Amino acid sequence: MAEDLYPVPESWAADARVTAEGYATDYARSLDDATRFWLERADSLEWVSKPTVADESSFEEATFGVKWFADGVLNVSANCIDRHLATRRDQIAIIWEPDSPAADPRFITFTELHAEVCRFANVLKAQGVRKDDRVTLYLPMIPEAAFAMLACARIGAVHSIVFGGFSPEALAGRITDCDSRIVVTVDEGRRGGKTVPLKANVDAAAKLVTCLDTVIVVRATGGGVEMQPGRDIWYDEAAASVAAECAPEPMNAEDPLFLLYTSGSTGKPKGVLHTTGGYLLWASYTHACVFDCRDGDTYWCAADVGWVTGHSYIVYGPLANGVTTLMYEGVPNWPSPARMWQVVDRHKVTQLYTAPTALRALMKEGDDFVTGTSRASLRLLGSVGEPINPEAWRWYHDVVGEGRCPIVDTWWQTETGGHMITPLPGATALKPGSAASPFFGVEPLLVDAEGKVLEGATEGNLVIARSWPGQMRTVWGDHERFFQTYFSTYPGFYFTGDGARRDADGYWWITGRVDDVINVSGHRMGTAEVESALVLHRTVAEAAVVGFPHEIKGQGIYAYVTLNAGDPPSDALRKELVTWVRGEIGPIATPDAIQFTPGLPKTRSGKIMRRILRKIAEGDVSSLGDTSTLADPSVVDDLVANRVG
Ligand code: WT7
Repeated sequence: MAEDLYPVPESWAADARVTAEGYATDYARSLDDATRFWLERADSLEWVSKPTVADESSFEEATFGVKWFADGVLNVSANCIDRHLATRRDQIAIIWEPDSPAADPRFITFTELHAEVCRFANVLKAQGVRKDDRVTLYLPMIPEAAFAMLACARIGAVHSIVFGGFSPEALAGRITDCDSRIVVTVDEGRRGGKTVPLKANVDAAAKLVTCLDTVIVVRATGGGVEMQPGRDIWYDEAAASVAAECAPEPMNAEDPLFLLYTSGSTGKPKGVLHTTGGYLLWASYTHACVFDCRDGDTYWCAADVGWVTGHSYIVYGPLANGVTTLMYEGVPNWPSPARMWQVVDRHKVTQLYTAPTALRALMKEGDDFVTGTSRASLRLLGSVGEPINPEAWRWYHDVVGEGRCPIVDTWWQTETGGHMITPLPGATALKPGSAASPFFGVEPLLVDAEGKVLEGATEGNLVIARSWPGQMRTVWGDHERFFQTYFSTYPGFYFTGDGARRDADGYWWITGRVDDVINVSGHRMGTAEVESALVLHRTVAEAAVVGFPHEIKGQGIYAYVTLNAGDPPSDALRKELVTWVRGEIGPIATPDAIQFTPGLPKTRSGKIMRRILRKIAEGDVSSLGDTSTLADPSVVDDLVANRVG
């Protein structure tokens, strides 16, 4: 059967920002005449001093470094706010849709955004925050999260957002790693009709760190919290006495903008560092080409600002482009599975960007929740975070978008700052499940296990052959780890950790992680992290964690646990371990299955054979492959016999 091919809709072909021809020409230029291409593109930003150089990066060990526009000077918040004041003073910058549909949305104009961000910046300054200081933001999806991010950018402080779903332990680790003396939080967050005790979590985290001296608390729910005198201050009280003007700090293009912790295949989460000029150009330029927003559009990225998607595509990209961006406090399925489509109708959303896991969960509830709403405003749909299965793709396209809206399936990573492989709505005929083509300046290649570059229609490990402006610059505090993690496996290339396939038409299909990272509901989790959390429990001798296919989450977490002698397995202990992992990392790390086992399959040299564990977790026990190299092959029989699920 011929593969489905969805041509560019006529409505898009006519006046898209990037057409098929434009893509072909400019993509070639972006690689062949890169310096000129990128210096031209950089003109879309407002610079205090324009850059005269573009890419000065090297992936080679001796000259290693990532550097773009190094003599340019600019300020990110001035680009996202001040420069729009001449033409968009009264345009809505941020629409805030509250958790409960019964509560009132907020509409924040660019003029108001300017005042809010300046005030927030002045509060931070009054607390002694200076250029290059790290500010930890532990906030829910409220406008103050965007104000705080932009306020940091305005004064040159480096924000480190910690997703509100992370536990006090995880928060403490991130505060300590970047030596942050200040945390901004709220009394409580709101999600799906429940409150989340964020301030109380900060109090618990504070007991585990030594560097923290100030906690700024935004009043969100009014729920009672304990305030520690000398350390905690209410944001509204501090903001009452500061000016609504604050001059943006001129920043070098390579000055840090933010840190965001992400999981890898080994060790503790890494602080991914993004800088000012290249990142902002990448976020804004990809946003402009991929979503192609027009004046009057309302664009909605349904992610959380705690993840990179929220950084680049709720805040920095759209605001730099002067686009009205919708921020939603709640969850997709509360109070009903119609909630997302009702939000689309309420605010006449034109571009919607969400994750396959949300689509699969909503799809399961039946079409009536969708078809009961209008959605007539929608012109484009986007997908991000994990491979989208063709079934969910077709549902999104046919039912949600009524066949009218192209779907941009955007492949990228925290490390890449923005989109890397993605269709463009006016340029690309779509194949369900394929991320299609590289964005301008991106040179993807497939390599085999030895690093040999593979040509033609084939499958392999996905690497990127040259730098792009949005690339991360270092791992906070550990530049050597940056090199080792991404550039040592296939010398000369950035290794993504993903596998991919390129078909006969040159379309790219991302097949998923090839390292020990799993993707749970579009969120990245290191199996080593969950294992470390498990072995901290007094009963656990050893643990091995793998991913397995999960209908809604994409991948679920399957843990094999060996208990200490004298600790018998039980359902109660299984529950306790699940609670334990949630406490150590957060609900996103909740194991879906725990299998107690007297031993793990190890080679004679003591290496755990994860391939076997993955197969068993998947329920694919007929093809376990060669087990003869195991120190004790009988372990496998026990594992198969006692499989959970
Ligand atoms: C990993 C990055 C991208 C921002 C959100 C997640 C997977 C992401 C896709 C996609 C297939 C995807 C990859 C990648 N991924 N988007 N469209 N198709 N896989 O950012 O937490 O840094 O995770 O998410 O495996 O490596 P992240």
